[in-house]
Amino acid sequence: MPHIAVYPGSFDPITFGHLDVAARASKLFDELHIVVVHNPGKAPRFSSEERVQLIQASLAELGIYAGAKIKVDTLDHGLLVNYCQMVGAHALVKGFRNNVDLDYELPMAQVNQDLAGVETIFIPANPEHGHISSSLVKQVADLEGSVTKYVPQAVARALASSLANRKTKG
Ligand code: PNS
Repeated sequence: MPHIAVYPGSFDPITFGHLDVAARASKLFDELHIVVVHNPGKAPRFSSEERVQLIQASLAELGIYAGAKIKVDTLDHGLLVNYCQMVGAHALVKGFRNNVDLDYELPMAQVNQDLAGVETIFIPANPEHGHISSSLVKQVADLEGSVTKYVPQAVARALASSLANRKTKG
């Protein structure tokens, strides 16, 4: 039976921090599903489809093979554990940078274990990426700073064109 894990998140947009966690997690499992989850608490910058495209472009840019081993998908409604059951995954992967992340993630991990026996594997962020977050990347890009240290070129381009579009619309 293949060992399948799901790496969920908003990924709005994906960063080098997320990509590092995905690459490391993919070595631990036969199959890793990176899943763009709709978070009703957040107004996303990019649509789910755009986020999937950016993840695929980023994996390609970094030479991380997206195919049988890493799949990219979306979950727009319903419980994450239902998605896990649908694809035969028994584990979730989450990256954490600090105790704030762990405080946020721990109750979700406990609920997912309680609901369906799905375990969460926490992967510590590489210290090099400990300060990167999607929201800070969006803020820097919106203020016309360089984000190339934090995100792949495809994402940096998408952030720049999203800013240009919003400027045009006034
Ligand atoms: O990148 P984010 O926004 O921190 O990711 C949070 C996310 C999407 C992983 C979280 O909101 C989530 O797991 N949503 C799925 C809905 C669900 O199953 N909720 C109940 C158990 S936590």
